[in-house]
Amino acid sequence: MKICFATHNQNKLKEINQILGNDFEVVGLTDIGCTEEIIEDGNTLEENSAIKARHVFSNYNIPCFADDTGLEVESLGGAPGVYSARYAGEPSNSQNNIKLLLQNLDGESNRTARFRTVITLIWNSEEIQFEGIVRGAIADSLKGTDGFGYDPIFIPEGQSRTFSEMSSNEKNAISHRGRAVAKLVDYLKSV
Ligand code: IMP
Repeated sequence: MKICFATHNQNKLKEINQILGNDFEVVGLTDIGCTEEIIEDGNTLEENSAIKARHVFSNYNIPCFADDTGLEVESLGGAPGVYSARYAGEPSNSQNNIKLLLQNLDGESNRTARFRTVITLIWNSEEIQFEGIVRGAIADSLKGTDGFGYDPIFIPEGQSRTFSEMSSNEKNAISHRGRAVAKLVDYLKSV
């Protein structure tokens, strides 16, 4: 069964294909000829992941899913949240995003945060959403070299290292995206 993951990210595609095995062939946006920009103008992760999945389904008529992730910091009222990629402005720049976040948390003792991923699946013309959350805290400074985005400043609950100090297997086992993908995979294996 062919299914489209609404992403251009080859790492995400490779990872999900490995997890799903032979029953599903997961293809990306490039593979289905979708090169146009999908405008993510929703105000929530739920809306943005649905916008991407609906775009693919209505234009390419293929079962599909899309993900959207945000870092939600408690003392900042849930910011940067849905704006995580462009927190410090366009174009998206992780170094600047981290710098601004650490600046906005300067002197703040409550560093509680969570990563949240929402996946929208359109299957048999029906929409289903899956959520994955990892709770943790924002470090005082950057640590580690692996990963991407906010990984160098996010310490998952019960850990002493940031995501950037972990191997990708260690991170995937507990991460927001790993948890949301696990729910998606369980569902797809049951249909
Ligand atoms: P996306 O929805 O996967 O494109 O994620 C939106 C933004 O959230 C990214 O540009 C990153 O800044 C951040 N982000 C998403 N997932 C992660 C992660 O696993 N670690 C660190 N930052 C992430």
